[in-house]
Amino acid sequence: MGQTDPRPLRVCVVGCGGVSGSHLAAYQEHPLARLVSCVDLRPEVAQRAAGRYGAGRWETSWEEAVARDDVDVVDVCLPHDLHAPVSIGAARAGKHVFVEKPIANTLDEADAMIAAAREAGVQLMVDQTKRFEPRHQKIKELIEAGVIGRPIVAKSAYPQDITYSWEHMEPGRKRTYWKHDGVIGGIAIHTLDMLRWLLGDVESVSAIAGTSRLLGESRRTEDSGIVLLRFRNGAIAESTVSYVLRDPRMAANWGLMPLQLFGEDGSVQMDLEDRIRVFSYKSARPLLEGSAAEPGGAALTAGLPPLYGTVEVQLQPPSGAGAQPPRGFAGAIDALLRAIAEGRPVPVPGEEGRRSLELVLAAYRSVETGQSVPLPLGGA
Ligand SMILES: NC(=O)c1ccc[n+]([C@@H]2O[C@H](COP(=O)([O-])OP(=O)(O)OC[C@H]3O[C@@H](n4cnc5c(N)ncnc54)[C@H](O)[C@@H]3O)[C@@H](O)[C@H]2O)c1
Repeated sequence: MGQTDPRPLRVCVVGCGGVSGSHLAAYQEHPLARLVSCVDLRPEVAQRAAGRYGAGRWETSWEEAVARDDVDVVDVCLPHDLHAPVSIGAARAGKHVFVEKPIANTLDEADAMIAAAREAGVQLMVDQTKRFEPRHQKIKELIEAGVIGRPIVAKSAYPQDITYSWEHMEPGRKRTYWKHDGVIGGIAIHTLDMLRWLLGDVESVSAIAGTSRLLGESRRTEDSGIVLLRFRNGAIAESTVSYVLRDPRMAANWGLMPLQLFGEDGSVQMDLEDRIRVFSYKSARPLLEGSAAEPGGAALTAGLPPLYGTVEVQLQPPSGAGAQPPRGFAGAIDALLRAIAEGRPVPVPGEEGRRSLELVLAAYRSVETGQSVPLPLGGA
């Protein structure tokens, strides 16, 4: 923590459904946070969360909760249509805001959130969780170190199977759950944000989407999508996402996000098991030192001077390894709390979340029109 304000930041979490558990656990553990309130429209849900994670109180009205004097940070874990009103209400009440992805449903909403935070002099951070995963941070480090050189083409995917969970969900929950979460806004936001984070600004977006029969008629949104990006630096990329891929690995783990990046000097490829293979004609030795040599690598590179290696990102630390740095949701929350406590800008401000939302909205526009959509988007 170093030279930080010793008083913990007092946190109010609004929305105590599916994603909130990871947020609440991270605040409960964090020395810079004190959980003061859990808020949910469903009183039993708010009460259960407050009891489990040691919040001082539970309540059902977000309007009252965000206005209270003993709150410094409001964490918004709500359906997408509530991101803007609750974030704006919290900012106007002088509270820092951490909002789940996507920042909002429209660019106008995102602009209003950014303006409200700026006017109130508070910080607004969007939870682009994948930027805080060690495997993706390692890939960014490799790209920035130049191991692939100028990027040419990238492939990303977010494959999930939510059908088992859908089939076993209690009927009351089914009525609201997932309905706000079409697959492009729901999870392509992660791959699109990741590609933009790694490769830079996007020039145009094309997309197609499909709706399967697997999630029942009450589901009105697309559940599979393919988004194509053209970057300003000339690179192109593809992102395939789905909620309905019939593969038990994808039902058991909703965090799989394979990624392949090819450039003029090499490639970085992460498979479904999170193993990262690096192939570079430029020196990547310092980055690969200590990593496992790939059997067969020598044969593949015979006659060439490149490096070929596998980077092991420590997913399960060995027993006795001691405390590990926070990652994913906990990593994002750690970065948020430290930035606020130390008076630094948060790492994923509203403007960044807005840029990734713009890719999502351009993709939906392309799905509707069948056309490639140039950026920036007008009127969304
Ligand atoms: N970053 C990630 O990887 C990730 C993962 C999952 C979900 N999410 C995002 O988190 C957000 C929430 O998703 P979820 O899966 O937890 O949804 P959810 O439906 O499980 O939970 C939402 C909760 O909000 C409550 N709620 C609804 N209206 C309310 C109101 N007016 N006042 C107070 N509470 C209200 C509901 O009762 C519910 O408990 C979404 O933006 C989603 O996209 C992000």
